[in-house]
Amino acid sequence: MLLMIDLSNRHTFKLPVQAQALLEITSSADCETLDWQAPFVIIGDGSNTIFLADYPGTVIVNRIKGIQITAQDDYVEVRAGGGENWHQLVSQLISKNIAGLENLALIPGTVGAAPVQNIGAYGVEVAAFINQVKAWDIKLQRWQYFDANACQFDYRNSLFKRHPGRWLVTEVIFRLPQQWQAQISYHGLDSLAADCTPQAIYERVIEIRNSKLPDPAQLPNAGSFFKNPVISVSQYQELTREFSNMPSYPVSADEVKVPAGWLIDQLGLKGYRFGGAAVHQQQALVLVNLHQASGDDVLCLARYIAAAVAEHYSIQLEPEVRLFDRQGQLLEQL
Ligand code: EPU
Repeated sequence: MLLMIDLSNRHTFKLPVQAQALLEITSSADCETLDWQAPFVIIGDGSNTIFLADYPGTVIVNRIKGIQITAQDDYVEVRAGGGENWHQLVSQLISKNIAGLENLALIPGTVGAAPVQNIGAYGVEVAAFINQVKAWDIKLQRWQYFDANACQFDYRNSLFKRHPGRWLVTEVIFRLPQQWQAQISYHGLDSLAADCTPQAIYERVIEIRNSKLPDPAQLPNAGSFFKNPVISVSQYQELTREFSNMPSYPVSADEVKVPAGWLIDQLGLKGYRFGGAAVHQQQALVLVNLHQASGDDVLCLARYIAAAVAEHYSIQLEPEVRLFDRQGQLLEQL
């Protein structure tokens, strides 16, 4: 008889699914002794992963802890275990007056996941503060150190995300410059005084996030469900003829990013529900598990939204969250 493991409390969307096995890694040494037999998937706090159905393999949970802080002349070096909670790390640094990561307060998830998806919020991406990533190369069974360049960071992307199952991030080494500069240009932070403290930014970010983003502990969700799509400037100009107030953020000379939350919101889909899954009332980019949602509810809702966006704006939405189907396959497209 195969004993299945409950996954509902291992991913913040809390679908009632199971895995064949679950292993917790608590030290780097565990990586060297583990039998890395496929299929497996690595998670941290499960805040950016949705298991749409039972997972036909082993779920490996990164629980490697430890934080070391060393002040140098020009920067503070922070070494943190991949299984540390991200927000607890940010809070600990702010409480010690170590600045740099305050814009990234309250992002759910672990330190190990931060470089994988290059977490970002309120005008800052974690990539800017990463000096090195230590990871176990599962394929070649050896340790590897990556400098920031080698991580190939991009918007919500990295080398690690492009090659799922290849590396497990055991430690992230941050460098936080002693010469601190407030990043307060993002809407919502721009009312802070130019000489505000990192603590003030930290508190404002928490306030904004709490007002828009549902707390996974109260209302199960996985943060942004879709990526903000990148489109050509010419397509954007074309669209603004019809949708004159469509926001955009510059990406390069010929590309812009448009907020998927705005696109979905404009279609009147806030609160739209399919079975137990729904579009969040305060932030249309977030899907929530309103009441006993199933994987099919989530997938149908996501496909409905993507089809509506494609029809109205000719823009293809891609999932930001990692979605695993019943074969244990990662869904890159909806
Ligand atoms: N907007 C709407 N309606 C909505 C949602 C957004 O009109 O329902 C508009 C806002 O008014 C604003 C624009 O869209 O003009 C952008 O909205 P917001 O600042 O809330 O950010 P976002 O682009 O929706 C991204 C990240 C978030 C991050 C915020 C803040 C992605 C996929 N998401 O969301 O990250 O917290 O910026 O920096 O890039 C996450 O990844 O889980 C996440 C929450």
